[in-house]
Amino acid sequence: MGLIARLAIAAAALAGNGIAAPVTAATAAAQYCDETGVCYSEVTVGVAPITWRIAIPAVEQGPFDVLLQVIAPKSVGWAGLAWGGGMLYNPISLAWANGNSTIGSARFAAAHVQPDFYDPAAHTILKGSSANDTHWTLTTLCQGCSTWVHNGGAKEVLDPGATAASFAFAASAVPPIDPTDPTSPIGIHSEHGIFTVDLAAAKSEQFSTWVEQLKVA
Ligand code: HEM
Ligand SMILES: *[C@@H]1O[C@H](CO)[C@@H](O)[C@H](O)[C@H]1NC(C)=O
Ligand SMILES: *[C@@H]1O[C@H](CO)[C@@H](O)[C@H](O)[C@H]1NC(C)=O
Repeated sequence: MGLIARLAIAAAALAGNGIAAPVTAATAAAQYCDETGVCYSEVTVGVAPITWRIAIPAVEQGPFDVLLQVIAPKSVGWAGLAWGGGMLYNPISLAWANGNSTIGSARFAAAHVQPDFYDPAAHTILKGSSANDTHWTLTTLCQGCSTWVHNGGAKEVLDPGATAASFAFAASAVPPIDPTDPTSPIGIHSEHGIFTVDLAAAKSEQFSTWVEQLKVA
């Protein structure tokens, strides 16, 4: 059993003893493989809670494309992942339900206000994007999420070897104003937080095969 799994069990045991659990749920990173054999690093965070899954190619350095899967309960109107670990000056992958499917949309914020639509990153909707009575799932390829220009002009690139890459998330119960429009405005979050993802463990030699396999005909 891995250290994190053991810590999670220890935390559960403490909670069972009546010792208050932290408000921000501990994040237990794990490996998840779907029934077709596509594997991701997975983290479940927040109040909703929301599950984030990431797969990347087996590269030594960035930039690289990213497979992102987001699973949220229907109570989540939108969920966003900030690739640099905070709201500001990094690409944000926004996700929400649209009818019986989902939408992925890139944003970028230079201040703590409505992030702008962000052209340098594109989200392609892939198989496995759906919404049912209880949850919605976005499966998307992001091209342009692993590199960006920070405030002041410094180029940032995700390190594919990072075992604890820092990301931030935010979510709101209120859906975007026009859920059918990828550029739709959104309202402010009701929760936000940070988590880490094992990118090294998210690497796969099969990445491009998976992307082909997941393409919507
Ligand atoms: C209309 C949209 C949004 C508005 C008006 C908004 C506004 C704000 C405000 C006022 C704060 C508090 C700043 C402070 O007190 O330090 C904040 C923090 C934060 N927001 Fe947003 N936000 C929006 C969308 C987003 C989205 C899409 C994300 C996606 C990840 C996000 C992630 C965060 C995070 C992680 C923080 C914590 C502080 C930081 O990282 O800068 N926000 N936001
Ligand atoms: C749900 O998806 C199917 C295709 O998979 C489509 O034919 C149908 O119109 C959709 N229903 C709604 C309510 O969007
Ligand atoms: C709804 O979707 C979620 C997330 O994909 C899944 O876990 C759940 O089994 C689905 N529910 C039904 C009734 O299909």
